[in-house]
Amino acid sequence: MLIQMVAPLDGESGRFSGLAAMLKTLRLEHPKCYGQFIEMDDMAGDKLAYRLHNESRNPEEPMIRYRHDERFIAGWSELGISQEELHISWKEHGVYLLTGGAGSLGLIFAEEMVSQVRQITLILTGRSQLTLHQQGQIAELRNSGARVSYEQVDVSDKESVNRLIQSVVAQYGSLNGILHGAGVCRDSFLMKKTREELHSVLDPKVNGLVHLDQATRGIRLDFFYLFSSIAGSLGNPGQADYAAANAFMDSFASYRNGLVMKKERYGQTISVNWPLWQEGGMQMDESVRRQRMEQAGMAMLRTDKGIRALYQIASAGVDQAMVMEGNTAQLRAAVCSDRRPAIDVKSGGDLLHSSASEMPDDAFFLHLTQQISSGELSEEQLAEILKVSSMRG
Ligand SMILES: NC(=O)c1ccc[n+]([C@@H]2O[C@H](COP(=O)([O-])OP(=O)(O)OC[C@H]3O[C@@H](n4cnc5c(N)ncnc54)[C@H](OP(=O)(O)O)[C@@H]3O)[C@@H](O)[C@H]2O)c1
Repeated sequence: MLIQMVAPLDGESGRFSGLAAMLKTLRLEHPKCYGQFIEMDDMAGDKLAYRLHNESRNPEEPMIRYRHDERFIAGWSELGISQEELHISWKEHGVYLLTGGAGSLGLIFAEEMVSQVRQITLILTGRSQLTLHQQGQIAELRNSGARVSYEQVDVSDKESVNRLIQSVVAQYGSLNGILHGAGVCRDSFLMKKTREELHSVLDPKVNGLVHLDQATRGIRLDFFYLFSSIAGSLGNPGQADYAAANAFMDSFASYRNGLVMKKERYGQTISVNWPLWQEGGMQMDESVRRQRMEQAGMAMLRTDKGIRALYQIASAGVDQAMVMEGNTAQLRAAVCSDRRPAIDVKSGGDLLHSSASEMPDDAFFLHLTQQISSGELSEEQLAEILKVSSMRG
């Protein structure tokens, strides 16, 4: 079965991109199902039908974009950053908001921030009351001299987010950066997902992100880092909703950086597709973890490597980066394959211009000939198909 989803390519087309990650997950859960997410800036005439027809001949390609009659496919390339290129994003007297800040990664980064900068203010948020253990961890952060507060705020509630941002600015005079780590998983196969599960997973990463962005639109942030997951970039069985939520954040980063260019927002947005952290809160079942790791050559991310990765990514000026630790040769082969030639991620981490792809085969041309002689295909339609085919070649 092939499912093709088509989205218009306009200024806000990223709002649909979570569906691409959902389709990638579907493919992993049901190997006989193929999914394609296709964006087009022009669907006039027969373009839509003929492009869909052509893409159906290459169902393994999950993300395709047509812009100005050119065809692009999504891909990854390795960021060539040296070990020395680190950008420490936090500064003395800085005020930072960490959503999901009392979670595992929130506290790991809070600890890192207070170890780098003495005079710092951290506002950690979550929906729940703090446990005794979390209270102890926050007390330790304060021992270093930092001002640390915890606010019970559900980021999916717009008014609560507005009130939080207003009170932070009123109390501390500014807000310099945001680490958006709020998130939940509700793992189950796509066939079994309930509406309630879907919404609870999408809420913090989709609505929560939009609310935070809007509430801070006039604030001169230095950065807005989004804690996404490799599920968003590659899909993950049992996590169709989580993959979609993270993929939304990935495209939001590029959308928001576009607004920064227009001076409608402030601060670099980066979406980081994290793998499983050794000390993270979101864990997988042990047997699933071992199996997936072995298949992909992936290892759990060590804390020091993860922190360093964020500093490296921040120095690279990209919208989105995926972090992986493990067998690099295997990871390169799986992610940066030859048929997806490298793009310069530094130029925006956008979609990749396809330069290496299959040539149409003889059967394809025979099929076209038959369609022309039977009158099913007009001259204009043939021209469109040949244009697409030559781009693919
Ligand atoms: N840990 C990993 O290995 C890993 C891997 C890839 C990506 N990530 C991403 O990194 C982020 C942090 O992960 P983690 O391991 O620290 O997870 P975690 O320990 O479960 O922490 C996530 C926090 O988000 C908060 N949260 C959830 N929904 C919220 C909402 N609507 N409003 C406000 N807060 C909310 C939760 O607190 P309450 O329940 O109190 O609200 C929780 O403390 C997540 O977004 C996750 O997707 C983590």
